[in-house]
Parts: sequence; structure tokens; C-alpha cells
Amino acid sequence: MIVLAYMGKTVLSGIKPSGIPQLGNYVGAISYWAELQNKYDHAIFPVVDLHAITVPQDPKVLSHQTYLTTAIILASGINPKKSIVFVQSDVPAHSELMWLLTTVATMGELGRMTQYKDKSGTAQLDSVEKALSEELREAYKIAHAQIDTNTSNVDDMAAALVKIQAQLKAKSDLPKLQRYMLLLKLLEERRRDRMGAGLFTYPVLMAADILLYQANVVPVGEDQKQHVELARDLAERFNKRFGETFVVPEPLLRKEGARIMDLLDPAKKMSKSDNDNGCILLTDSPEIIRKKIMRAETDSGHDIKFNPVIDREGVHNLLTIYKVLSGKTEAQIEKHFAKSGYGDLKRELSELVIAKLSPIQKQIDKYMKNKKLLERILNDGAQRADKIAQKTLAEAKKKIGLIT
Ligand code: TYM
Repeated sequence: MIVLAYMGKTVLSGIKPSGIPQLGNYVGAISYWAELQNKYDHAIFPVVDLHAITVPQDPKVLSHQTYLTTAIILASGINPKKSIVFVQSDVPAHSELMWLLTTVATMGELGRMTQYKDKSGTAQLDSVEKALSEELREAYKIAHAQIDTNTSNVDDMAAALVKIQAQLKAKSDLPKLQRYMLLLKLLEERRRDRMGAGLFTYPVLMAADILLYQANVVPVGEDQKQHVELARDLAERFNKRFGETFVVPEPLLRKEGARIMDLLDPAKKMSKSDNDNGCILLTDSPEIIRKKIMRAETDSGHDIKFNPVIDREGVHNLLTIYKVLSGKTEAQIEKHFAKSGYGDLKRELSELVIAKLSPIQKQIDKYMKNKKLLERILNDGAQRADKIAQKTLAEAKKKIGLIT
């Protein structure tokens, strides 16, 4: 029996103050949190500043963004009386539990986190890779299908290369492929050498964020699902090794909207670190929102139908945003746009986004002009969070055998 699970079910989720939150954060996460806070007995929403510093931040900008992100959460309907809203670094137990969980996590599982793999690249090295010829890239694709690139065992790689030899259509490709694989390995090593260690270990901090509060449900966008699954694995491993301590959490993804795509490049997710025209910031003015949506990438077709096939991702993305923000069904939306073109969809979507964001922006301004109020809410949140976190931390330490 888990001693510390307090009565009732807990929903918990967090957001990094590493930039101005964008429409994907709102559609996939924050607006969903506002709905869920009333469906659970306890709701906890930290602004996770320790996660933001896994990449360099300007100290002044970071503190401003921490306030702004808090203001956005509150302006989007999170009620600080019902939900606990606080800044992660105000509750030291997050870092402490992270260490305990780091001793349970493995290098292998952290190395398999997709975000770590993505972030370990540097622009410079990426461009070297892009400059490689088509032929070599083709060879690389074949090799990738055969070799687990995570392997650091040179003998395994060499053995795999020998196997590939048989599969390559032209045997003369092999020296090229070997050279390419070697180059790739070197690039990977150099990338890892330069990468901040925090980018590698941060999923363990995220697990600590979740497990400290015995959260049952963690509503996140699709990109964070793998991290919640790691939190599950760590909870299960800890419980098995030391006895029942943590609730094993479940990721909860919004049925639609868990992956809002970039407006200009619908093959990649909308992200606040790409502060360009493909991403709508929650603080964007109506003119900017119109401009960004009107420029959104679509295709040469004209049917306004929900159909997420590759070459229609752009329109599907616009329709998904429309669906979540309007609360209408797909059939209603398709009927509504039956006689319209993409231009009409973009115009209506722009007005819908503006209508949704305008009142939120007014509230954001109000909070940002009243830092005292924000600080009061955050202090109160940190005190409430700390009480719960301390109990879980003490229990985990005791189970491990640390004197508390
Ligand atoms: P972060 O700050 O990158 O994003 C916050 C939330 O927004 C979701 N999201 C999206 N959803 C749909 N479409 C998009 N384009 C999109 N972009 C972002 C994210 O999935 C996330 O749910 N490591 C986490 C923060 C975190 C956390 C936690 C979350 C730290 N501790 C504990 C849950 C529980 C992160 O970097 O999210």
C-alpha cells in the first residue's frame, strides 16, 4: 500500500518558462488542464524553471518568462484556489528526489529519449550532415535499418557492417558506407561531448516532478508522452526494489490537439524555441495572428476535410486547431466549410484564434501589472506543494535506508 497517496485522484502537469508559450502549448496542454482541474480531487501545475535551464537562458529574461508563463496559466482558467500553481525551484524536494531517481535510472533508457536524441544535434554539425551527397544518405538509410545507432560497441557495429555488405546491391558501395558510418559515429560523439548533461538527465527531474505528488494522471502533448512513460518505469522499479512508495502515473493525451504542427512546416511540431512565422505565440497581436495563419502552408487541393495524409498535413492541422478551439464536431465543421476554400478556412480560423486569445491576453496583462498578486499566488502554491513533496521525499529516503 502506498502510504502517501492522499485521498482522491491527482492530476499534474508542468510547462517550461523557456520562451513565450505558444498555441501548441495552449491547445495540447494548458486549455486541457483548465478542463481537468475540476474533474480531479487535486490539481498541480508547476512552472518548471529548472527544466528551462537545461539550455542557456538570459537570467533577466528567464525570471520575466517565469512570471509570464504563470500569468498565462492563470489567465487560461487555472484557478489557484483549486489548483496548486508554483515555481519548481521554490520546492527543493524536486532536485532531491531527482537524485534518488537518478540512481535508479539507466544510461540506456535516458539515451533512448527522443528529445535527447533530437537536442543533441548542433546546427553546425547538422549542416555538415545535410551537405552529404544523396548517394551517401541513401547508404546511410540502409545502414540505419540494420544498425542500432545507440550501440557504442565497435565490434557490434563492425559485425553489422559485414552483414550489410551482403545486402547492399552494389558491393562497391561498402567502402563509402563504412566511411560514412565512421563519420557519423564521430559526429555523434562530438555532439554528445558538447551537450549539456542536463539535457540527458532532465527526464529524471520530470519523473521527480510527477512522483513527488503521487500524480495519477499527467496530461501532456504527444512529445512528452515518452517522458511520462519513463516516470512510470522509474516508479515501478523503485517500488519493486524498495517497496511500494510511488503511485504509477498515466500519461493523458488530448484526443485531438496533442500535436499541433508548425504552420509553415507541418511536418514538424509547433515549438516555442522556433520563434518564427510558423508558431503563434500566446502574446501575438491580432494582426500578427492573421498574418501567420494566412501564410500557413496548405496544399494544392481545395477540400476542407479531416484527413491527416502526408500531403494534407497543413490543412489537417488548421482544422484540428479549429476543432479544439470551437468545440464543434468534424461533421459540423466539414459541413460549415463545404462550399469554402482554404482562404475562408484561414480567415475564420484567424478570427477564432483571436477571439479565444484576446480575453486571455487581457488577463495576462492584468497579472503582469500586478506582480505582487502573482508572487502571493506562487508563494501560497509553493507552501502547499512543499508539504506534499516533503512527505513523499521523506518516505522515499526512508525506504532507501537514508536516515531522515
Ligand atoms: P513544454 O514546456 O515543452 O510544453 C508544455 C506542454 O505543452 C505541450 N506541447 C504541445 N502540445 C501540442 N502541440 C504542440 N505543438 C506542443 N508543444 C508543446 C507539451 O507536450 C507539454 O505538455 N518536460 C516538459 C515539462 C514538464 C512536465 C513535468 C510535464 C516538466 N515536468 C511534469 C508534465 C509533468 C516540457 O518541456 O514541456
